[in-house]
Amino acid sequence: MTIEIYSKKDKRIKITSPSKKDGFAVANLIERSPPLDINSTYLYLIQSHYFNNTCSIAFDGNEVVAFVSGFINPSNNNSLFIWQVAIDENYRGKGLGIELIEFILKQNKNVISIETTVTKANTASRRMFQKIQEKYHTKISELILFDKEKDFSNKHATEILIEIGPINREHKNENI
Ligand SMILES: CC(C)(COP(=O)(O)OP(=O)(O)OC[C@H]1O[C@@H](n2cnc3c(N)ncnc32)[C@H](O)[C@@H]1OP(=O)(O)O)[C@@H](O)C(=O)NCCC(=O)NCCS
Repeated sequence: MTIEIYSKKDKRIKITSPSKKDGFAVANLIERSPPLDINSTYLYLIQSHYFNNTCSIAFDGNEVVAFVSGFINPSNNNSLFIWQVAIDENYRGKGLGIELIEFILKQNKNVISIETTVTKANTASRRMFQKIQEKYHTKISELILFDKEKDFSNKHATEILIEIGPINREHKNENI
């Protein structure tokens, strides 16, 4: 059964799990959300169809205004890897990204840590993940995962792995 909730910050916005009917609109949202890398529409269809339990989507009416993709780390099933977070620029700064990530946490009760990668320059993204750390009064660590020169052949900025946890769902700051 698909769960739907309304955003606590903006009651017009509905948050739910994506399905394959959303894949094309998700690709469009990613395309207008630099600095995210745009993957193929096929990838977003796969995520929305097969990985929808670890993805979330937000609608304002029929319009897709936010999307988060993720997966459970294949070598640690207590860890949620957040792949891409895209919030339409008109909906940023309201904490919607955190709400979408928390929606995924609710679907995956065994998750006790979050992993993601960020580039040094993406201060909005780094700040969003720092607020998750603050919200759950937990720890955050950083290390280089994919290096600009060694892994991207200088074609992409270094991606820093951020790990947040342990996450205690009973102990969180509801004001963040
Ligand atoms: C990064 C991003 C996902 C954050 O989502 P969000 O729901 O706006 O996050 P928050 O509301 O928690 O705001 C996080 C920070 O973004 C910045 N911010 C606030 N309003 C903003 C706006 N209108 N536009 C851009 N950045 C803004 C602030 O630094 C804020 O931190 P603060 O709350 O301490 O002031 C969103 O800006 C986005 O989609 N950016 C483009 C794609 C991207 O970079 N994705 C992340 C890589 S995975």
